[in-house]
Amino acid sequence: MKKFLLSEKDAPTQWYNILADLPAPVPPPLHPGTRQPLQPADLAPLLSGPAIEQEMSTQRWIDIPEQVQDVYRIWRPSPLYRADRLEKALDTPARIYFKYEAVSPAGSHKPNTAVPQMYYNAAEGIRRVATETGAGQWGSALAFAGSLFGVDVTVYMVRASFEQKPHRHSLINTWGAEVFASPSMRTAAGRAVLDKDPDSPGSLGIAISEAVEDAASHDDTKLAIGSAMNFVILHQTVIGLEAQRQLELAGDHPDVVIGCVGGGSNYCGLAYPFLADRLTGKHTGTRFIAAEPAACPTLTRGKLAYDHPDAAGLGPLLYMRTLGHGFIPAPIHAGGLRFHGDASTLCALHDSGDIEARAYGQNEVFSEAVRFARTEGFVIAPESAHALRGAVTEALAAREAGEPRTILFGLSGHGHFDMAAYDAFLAGQLTDHELPQREIDEALADLPAG
Ligand SMILES: Cc1ncc(COP(=O)(O)O)c(C=O)c1O
Repeated sequence: MKKFLLSEKDAPTQWYNILADLPAPVPPPLHPGTRQPLQPADLAPLLSGPAIEQEMSTQRWIDIPEQVQDVYRIWRPSPLYRADRLEKALDTPARIYFKYEAVSPAGSHKPNTAVPQMYYNAAEGIRRVATETGAGQWGSALAFAGSLFGVDVTVYMVRASFEQKPHRHSLINTWGAEVFASPSMRTAAGRAVLDKDPDSPGSLGIAISEAVEDAASHDDTKLAIGSAMNFVILHQTVIGLEAQRQLELAGDHPDVVIGCVGGGSNYCGLAYPFLADRLTGKHTGTRFIAAEPAACPTLTRGKLAYDHPDAAGLGPLLYMRTLGHGFIPAPIHAGGLRFHGDASTLCALHDSGDIEARAYGQNEVFSEAVRFARTEGFVIAPESAHALRGAVTEALAAREAGEPRTILFGLSGHGHFDMAAYDAFLAGQLTDHELPQREIDEALADLPAG
């Protein structure tokens, strides 16, 4: 069969929380001022009550509110496909499956968390939500969710992507939200960066600082977060929970689960339900691979330390593998992967050897994306193409070994707003940014003293 579909009645009604099954607790987020573990009251000005509870919860299963399930049904359950044409093109005995999250109205996995975050804020009477966005996928998802729940949305979009993807902001505006290129003059954090570098391409870290400052300085405004936090990953586990059932329909089980990593939300959402089987001893043979850009190699070259999620250092200290909160990655086309850190749980599971990491350059990534378009038909997001690159590498290794391995990868979004990047690749104009160790060392020199 080509695709494996679940009916609406088979959709998950609970999210899975990996914190219940981790071999050891991850070091908690710290207050940036006191360096004490963050308390719910510290987060209350920024996040809704349920988001704060979920961030700290160790309960294994958490109910998905009926109103959220109702919105999920617009596009969920999403399809699981067998990439048989790609398998043929690679002449591999591997079976390659991909979980296709591009069917959401915003075109990626991001609405899986935008919807519950917006629902909880609307239920608490919040009038406006501010956020950051890299490639624009998260900003679009939040604008979509805001329009459904009648909440205003302000998006700070990393300038490099703002300029590369003008139609992403048209989409955000169409859903009724406002969007500003970041760094902007609207916040002290943005003005400070522009003072030093009027041409700054921006970074997710800077955009997060702007959104945090906006939310913290307006009583009627809360913050929405697109990745890395526990509650965001929790919401994304619908991806993996569905994929588990779909692979059962296929009569298969993955030998390797692969995804791209910006802050970690789509990959952890796909991987954690399968990883639960590894951590609880049910399936110990599955491998897990996180794919990241060589231009922003947090897991492969970052340092495990407490660091801020944002450039200005307003946000809490998170324990993660980081390139330094001041690190500004080269303006690669996979804008959603330009984050200097990763989710704490992902970093801990990488450190314990449960998850491996690989870094890829943009040319090898785009060359797979083009092969995929010409075999499977889908034109995918540059971010997702990192996962694809990982899957192809594994399929070629299976060919080498002569083993019919089962490969599952997350296809987190479509690339319909990324055609300028495809044009650049097809014209041979994409550059691979070598990242000198000196640049990483410089950014790491600014880590908060531990
Ligand atoms: C299509 C797509 N995939 C992946 C990512 C990376 O984010 P995360 O690691 O949170 O899934 C993004 C981020 O914007 C994205 O837009």
